[in-house]
Amino acid sequence: MEEKRYLTFALTKGRLADKTLSLLESIGFTCEEMKDKSSRKLVFVNEEQKLRFFLAKGPDVPTYVEYGAADIGVVGKDTLLEEGRRVYEVLDLGFGKCRMCVCGPARAQELLKHHKMIRVASKYPNIAKEYFYNKKNQTVDIIKLNGSVELGPIVGLSDVIVDIVETGGTLRENGLEVLEEVCPISARMIVNPVSMQMQPERIRSLIARLRETQS
Ligand code: PRP
Repeated sequence: MEEKRYLTFALTKGRLADKTLSLLESIGFTCEEMKDKSSRKLVFVNEEQKLRFFLAKGPDVPTYVEYGAADIGVVGKDTLLEEGRRVYEVLDLGFGKCRMCVCGPARAQELLKHHKMIRVASKYPNIAKEYFYNKKNQTVDIIKLNGSVELGPIVGLSDVIVDIVETGGTLRENGLEVLEEVCPISARMIVNPVSMQMQPERIRSLIARLRETQS
């Protein structure tokens, strides 16, 4: 009975999806349909293995998984922390590594040190709030942006930003630096709690096989 259902994956569009598909392929989960980059299809199926895949914007992946539209999702830890959805986080996939940091011009270090009332721009207002309000006990003004957050301190919108740093190149080229580290980030596999109950063997064996590739 369990084997008759599709196992549906929601993947984060872009680099994370490419890496996830290579990883799944290495353990025998394939989807030939997905390799045709010219296709406008949204949902890809492997009939033989009863697998379904679709691509979504990062912040939507935990939403699809929470509501059970996908059994499994692959998404960055940053998005999981920001969205706060009710899903099981089952595996750190070890790629998509970067750091969530407080960044700004060097002079902003003093403002942070003395717990000044500062402006913080971020695509991640919940992570910024959790960090400043709960971890640091510092009251700040959080301004939500949707991208190119580094502009914040450069054009005078904010004193600092809370953002992802991967190579550090964007900061360097814009005269900004890491001032404090919030947490490390990487790609995580998430599972819908009901799916875990409905297809326990299939999902557990998938997790176990993925773990083996890490050892
Ligand atoms: C992310 C992040 C930084 C940059 C960090 O932006 O927000 O801007 O990458 O990478 P680096 O340390 O290797 O320079 P993204 O490219 O996702 O675009 P966005 O600015 O539109 O969010």
